[in-house]
Amino acid sequence: MVMLDPCYTISIKELSEIFNLSSQEINNFFKENQVELTRIGNLVRITPANFELILKARDVKKNKMIITSSCVKGGVGKTTLTHGLSAKISTYGHKTLMIDLDQQANLTSSFGIDSSMGVLPSILDVYRGHFQGKKISIEDAIVNITSHLSIIPANLEMASFESEFSSKTENVGNFFKKLLKPIGPQFDIIWFDCPPALGKVTSAAQASSDLIVIPINTDKFSVDGLDLTIDSIVTLHKNFEVNPNVKIVVNKFDSRQKLGFQIVSYISQNEYKDYLSNNYISVSKQIDNCIASKSSIWDPHFKGPAQDDLKNLALEIIGADKWSSSISENASESSSVQSLNNLNNLNNNNLNNVDNFYQQSNLDLTGVTHV
Ligand SMILES: Nc1ncnc2c1ncn2[C@@H]1O[C@H](COP(=O)(O)OP(=O)(O)OP(=O)(O)O)[C@@H](O)[C@H]1O
Ligand SMILES: [Mg+2]
Repeated sequence: MVMLDPCYTISIKELSEIFNLSSQEINNFFKENQVELTRIGNLVRITPANFELILKARDVKKNKMIITSSCVKGGVGKTTLTHGLSAKISTYGHKTLMIDLDQQANLTSSFGIDSSMGVLPSILDVYRGHFQGKKISIEDAIVNITSHLSIIPANLEMASFESEFSSKTENVGNFFKKLLKPIGPQFDIIWFDCPPALGKVTSAAQASSDLIVIPINTDKFSVDGLDLTIDSIVTLHKNFEVNPNVKIVVNKFDSRQKLGFQIVSYISQNEYKDYLSNNYISVSKQIDNCIASKSSIWDPHFKGPAQDDLKNLALEIIGADKWSSSISENASESSSVQSLNNLNNLNNNNLNNVDNFYQQSNLDLTGVTHV
């Protein structure tokens, strides 16, 4: 049963900030459209369906995208970003499907879903075409969390996916495009969470994607992991003529640590600079606790800088910076996503948040090199 949970709805204040509207204008809009706003306890909340009404009224075209969280380095935040960003984007009226590709099944269990083997079908069972002796289709594997957020769970058996995939001569370039075809029209966003590996299954997810999100932490091993991950995407680009956009997201940024600024400075000055997201994610004990205790990052009672960072990154990914103008022509173009093809032709006019951070810090970053 789909539950109405405050974590998967937003406040009037959040809606008013996104569209630059007053609370009065929002209330009037819903009144005119004869929509009674939902109350959960004593909170008035905007549901994803109500948000969609506003998008429609403003003639905003949603940006349909397949996204992959990928980085060969473990523990950098692939799952946390997939969880937090998918959930947030779903509250913005986007029908979002997460696909857990990792045998650790951390994404699945972060939503409190049982990831024991044999309980629920995974994408591997969809590939095999059967589960518990019965034929299944991809629709059968979808677990609905809300009206706008769903997941295809993983379990330990996913460890066999790589070898089963490799034993057949599957086409890495269009494997997932074919598998997802029946459900394509149902979803605005499909988001893969990959294991910390660069095998064929990860490559297939990357090849099907419009956007690859690469989280990194501010340590040297993350930068090495970033180099390897980008190399694999460049190879994919050459072999399969795919051209995914790439966003490098600095996660667990700690403004008290000099190394963080040094690593960001290094990336900002090297050939990856145009892929750096406008928003970094601060380190947050609260986020760590939420993931560990399987509670939502978006519980309205939890508030903090990292939640704000994630929210801003979610808006950046779906190109919401255009929405407040209510001009629809450019609404489908995400503003800051950069493509591999454009590597040398970019004009990075945005003063991004990381730059703001440099300005606020007293660190002398001149001449900082790879640490
Ligand atoms: N911004 C953050 N602040 C604090 N802790 C974080 C943050 N982001 C992620 N974490 C914590 O870091 C750990 C690793 O995160 P996560 O599982 O998302 O990484 P991952 O890249 O998916 O790991 P793996 O490679 O094993 O799949 C988790 O304990 C998570 O709670
Ligand atoms: Mg993970």
